[in-house]
Amino acid sequence: MSDEHGTIESHPLQGETYPPSPEFRDRANVNDPSVYLRAAEDPEAYWASEAEKLQWTKPFEEILDWSNPPFAKWFQDGELNVSANCLDRHVAAGLGDRVAIHFEGEPGDTRTITYAELTSEVKRAANMLTSLGVSAGDRVAIYMPMIPEAVIAMLAVARLGAAHSVVFGGFSAESLRARIDDARAELVITADGGYRKGRVSALKPTVDDALALHGGGSSVERVLVVKRTGNEIEMQAGRDLWWHDEIVTYDDQHQAQGFPAENPLFILYTSGTTGKPKGILHTSAGYLTQVSTTHRNVFDLKPDTDVYWCTADIGWITGHSYVVYGPLANGATQVIYEGTPETPDWGRWWSIIQKYGVTIFYTAPTAIRACMKVGRQVPEQYDLSSIRVLGSVGEPINPEAWRWYREVIGAGSAPIVDTWWQTETGAIMISALPGLTSLKPGSAQVPQPGIDVNVVDDAGNRVDRGQGGLLTIRRPWPSMVRTIWGDDQRFIDTYWAKFGDQYFAGDGARVDDDGDIWLLGRVDDVMNVSGHRLSTAEIESALVEHHAVAEAAVVGADDETTGQAVVAFVILKSQQTILTPEAAEQELKKHVAAQIGAIARPRQVFVVTELPKTRSGKIMRRLLKDAAEGKDIGDTTTLADTSVMQTISDRMRAEL
Ligand code: WT7
Repeated sequence: MSDEHGTIESHPLQGETYPPSPEFRDRANVNDPSVYLRAAEDPEAYWASEAEKLQWTKPFEEILDWSNPPFAKWFQDGELNVSANCLDRHVAAGLGDRVAIHFEGEPGDTRTITYAELTSEVKRAANMLTSLGVSAGDRVAIYMPMIPEAVIAMLAVARLGAAHSVVFGGFSAESLRARIDDARAELVITADGGYRKGRVSALKPTVDDALALHGGGSSVERVLVVKRTGNEIEMQAGRDLWWHDEIVTYDDQHQAQGFPAENPLFILYTSGTTGKPKGILHTSAGYLTQVSTTHRNVFDLKPDTDVYWCTADIGWITGHSYVVYGPLANGATQVIYEGTPETPDWGRWWSIIQKYGVTIFYTAPTAIRACMKVGRQVPEQYDLSSIRVLGSVGEPINPEAWRWYREVIGAGSAPIVDTWWQTETGAIMISALPGLTSLKPGSAQVPQPGIDVNVVDDAGNRVDRGQGGLLTIRRPWPSMVRTIWGDDQRFIDTYWAKFGDQYFAGDGARVDDDGDIWLLGRVDDVMNVSGHRLSTAEIESALVEHHAVAEAAVVGADDETTGQAVVAFVILKSQQTILTPEAAEQELKKHVAAQIGAIARPRQVFVVTELPKTRSGKIMRRLLKDAAEGKDIGDTTTLADTSVMQTISDRMRAEL
């Protein structure tokens, strides 16, 4: 498949590489290739020297404790305050007047916040949270739109040594409640709503619904509400407080205290292969070290001149590491935009780049492909000449989108860093360094200095160049997941059981003849839709919770824009009368969105009478995926019932 805009299936050209320009290389933060060797020879010394760039209230002496694998401790006898490293440190260095955040609301309202102002606001918020009873070791849930208060809330929680659990604002009441319960959060910080696609998207009512579920009785005692959209909401006396009413009563004096390096910083839930999301736990100093180092190196950040913009929402790991902690630890000036790229029209992102003179732009392939579809005539109306580095994250970037990104957004010259990492890795693990690497469209290329990534066979042995295998990480790294919140055993089983001494990422990969790494997608039952991770099992269990559904199978089918799309196959209960097969598709799409969140809404729901199963009763998702992609279904002789796939496949082809 190929047309003038290109499709996700485009292939790299033989030998297509883009070396850094001599000018870029000369000025790059990292332009001496010996860094790889130095870091490989003594990774701990390398990470210790990076950690020393942070401000410690008590310096560390021990670098890594790996005496009880897979539970790593980095810099554990040291102490620091994460929030002070992102704020007070810069103000003390005389950078208080530097802009930290250029905020652009979707309706067009703007706010410019300097480091001095952000520091004051976070101190005020920390005082407010203290008087609401938040202290070190607590968990605070944050369910917010992309507004400055979301960042302020995260930094205020961190400042007190408590852990935040940010829940993406698109998640349903059920999903929010499950996360609140798992973390036993006592405070929720939310907003009345946010602006999305030109409309108010309410948030507080979802918090109310979440807390009322299961007969109420949650761990939550207080709800703090930021006023953003002014929509009518209910405030429950004794529980709910307005952020603006409270915060004005506190002053902006707050002395940050140092906390142990391994103090929990946040929990972030992500989908796994079972129905229950995993609470990925990240701790303080190692995390902050690796996010700041990678942010500086991979994006070649020059904090006094660059204007950086990462389009991710703080509800995802990219927002945590490359909107909040990495950029702020580095004293960067950044843009935060509340809304969607097509509001009021598809020129919105490019107008923001032009307006603020954005120099470093970091987004996802799905967004680039959506912009490609609309056409280059839109970005061509804007002055994008400030751009000097482009980044990509979330899924492999297909070469055609890569070339378009470089040509149309990067004036044919900006380096593109394709960054591979995960919620669990906390920070970028594989990426080009723009002053050193000759870029290859479609490949994430090289492990970062000090990172021990391998592509291995089933026995855990490294494959030869030119071969494919599974992606693993051998040595512990500073920003690695410490455990799954409340479930050490699941942490071991999910990531370490397969190889014992290597972290198994769940991705397939290939190493080319130059040693560059090409990611090939997940090898487990995890889908990647628009760069977001979704679990087939979670959506299947949401479907069977519907009264009319007897059985469900979900697959991630290739999709031109979103990478993969959710396609569901359901069998309706034979005796049920509430749903006709005709009404089922719409109803079940709505049901999944309500149960999990709009991101999980299936692209298609097919009512079938049988699902393809092996003789031992396992659903053959591979076959369903092929059928959903209109592919030849091939050999079905291992199926219990060989006719079922023919029927499904014929139906699918009729639809496509
Ligand atoms: C999964 C992690 C890291 C933030 C965004 C997603 C896929 C991520 C790339 C890339 C190929 C990628 C992997 C990974 N992925 N970045 N540059 N090239 N694949 O975080 O939700 O934790 O998902 O996203 O499959 O395992 P996440």
